[in-house]
Amino acid sequence: MHKGFILWFTGLSGAGKSTISQRLAEIFRQRGYKVELLDGDEVRTHLSKGLGFSKEDRDTNIRRIGYVARLLARNGVIAITAAISPYREIRDEVRAHIQEEGAAFVEVFANASLDALVERDVKGLYKKALAGEIANFTGVSDPYEPPLQPEIEVRTDRETVEESTQRILNYLSERGLIG
Ligand code: ADX
Repeated sequence: MHKGFILWFTGLSGAGKSTISQRLAEIFRQRGYKVELLDGDEVRTHLSKGLGFSKEDRDTNIRRIGYVARLLARNGVIAITAAISPYREIRDEVRAHIQEEGAAFVEVFANASLDALVERDVKGLYKKALAGEIANFTGVSDPYEPPLQPEIEVRTDRETVEESTQRILNYLSERGLIG
């Protein structure tokens, strides 16, 4: 059986965290790995239902995701998380807990310029946020703290989903986390 680990995506809304993580999950499953995906939007309809977007609520959300991911990784599952997770301190706290247990924490920074995200605006949220219709919107009216030393950075405004996915797979196999 392969070892569990955590693949932790961080980045602004619309930066491609969900898309790339779904693609990776599909590939891992095809290869016979056990994998679970904790996606921010979905977690917020179950595990974190009722939480909003204050710093306190986001921190609670991220700690919950980190906790579940840790349980999964401990049991040999590849746990992929795809939440904005805007605060460095909380991501590093999750990292420290995981690493204490001897599991790998691989932080993937899905980086795209705000201009590109506003331009694409898949969910129409940037338009609303810029018009002041959504308060505390990450990257517009709420902070996003990029990782200082992510294991991997994918430039989703310049690379295709397949290119980003391949670079992540290459990294994981160089680290010996996948075969
Ligand atoms: S996190 O900050 O707690 O990590 P999470 O990833 O769960 O955020 O949820 C982000 C998603 O919630 C966004 O992709 C977007 O669809 C939606 N959303 C609604 N309001 C906000 C907001 N104020 N800031 C960011 N995202 C928001």
